[in-house]
Amino acid sequence: MATIIDGKAIAQTIRKEIADEVRSLSQNYNKVPGLAVVIVGMRKDSLSYVSMKRKACSEVGIRSFDIDLPEQISEAEVVAKVHELNNNPDVHGILVQLPLPKHINEENVLSEISIEKDVDGFHPLNIGKLAMKGREPLFQPCTPKGCLELLTRSGISLKSKRAVVVGRSNIVGLPVSLLLLKADATVTIVHSHTLNSENIIREADIVIAAAGQAKMIKGDWIKPGAAVIDVGTNAIDDPSRKSGYRLVGDVDFEEASMVAGCVTPVPGGVGPMTTTLIPNCASLNAADTNE
Ligand code: GUN
Repeated sequence: MATIIDGKAIAQTIRKEIADEVRSLSQNYNKVPGLAVVIVGMRKDSLSYVSMKRKACSEVGIRSFDIDLPEQISEAEVVAKVHELNNNPDVHGILVQLPLPKHINEENVLSEISIEKDVDGFHPLNIGKLAMKGREPLFQPCTPKGCLELLTRSGISLKSKRAVVVGRSNIVGLPVSLLLLKADATVTIVHSHTLNSENIIREADIVIAAAGQAKMIKGDWIKPGAAVIDVGTNAIDDPSRKSGYRLVGDVDFEEASMVAGCVTPVPGGVGPMTTTLIPNCASLNAADTNE
């Protein structure tokens, strides 16, 4: 049976580390790190992610600036809000929750975030540096970073390993592939146009599943002993629950846990890491500005 990687417990340990750092910033420099979380519209999943990120901030003593903008707002108004946050010295990190409504060009908005406050690492310059050998972005995207933290804190080395990433989104698939590459893994991305994905996944020592398809990856697609990180968060009907649904990953967890060396559950795997690493970046950034 696979070891279950407890993302909740690992995230809790990291939160304690952040809370200590925030306390010392306040004692030594009388400074409170601030994170602005911007949400446009009322998408249910985004509202839930944003509320978890804000809660994580308050738990570790970071000041959260809650910017809730209406769905119909113009791109220019969102950009103006970003500029205002760039100029606010109490704000050390800015996160614009994605996706934005269709009438707003995401790249135009993300490019306006000051790169020094781009704690999500989605500014084209930070992504560009992530993609270059020998260059380091100021910040790395939090979900991909959370995936690597889970592996390294579970004692799994990445150097020379075969890693297969399932999915090529700008938020997870692509940046996690770049991070794995920087960690000297041999990386393959499979996506909706890949032929025989299963056979490629079977070769992986490390599988990162970020396809957004419930239970797509079956137990017999996994190499015995592989490490499996499941980024998928898919709601499926479950009449036995009060809510009428439950969350499952992109990996068939029951099957995978019979074959893999270790596997993350959904919920309780990658999710808590994403929400924890965001305040971490804001706090590190506040600390940096003391030097
Ligand atoms: N939407 C889904 N995941 C993320 C994330 O990690 N950051 C942002 N900004 N938006 C998201």
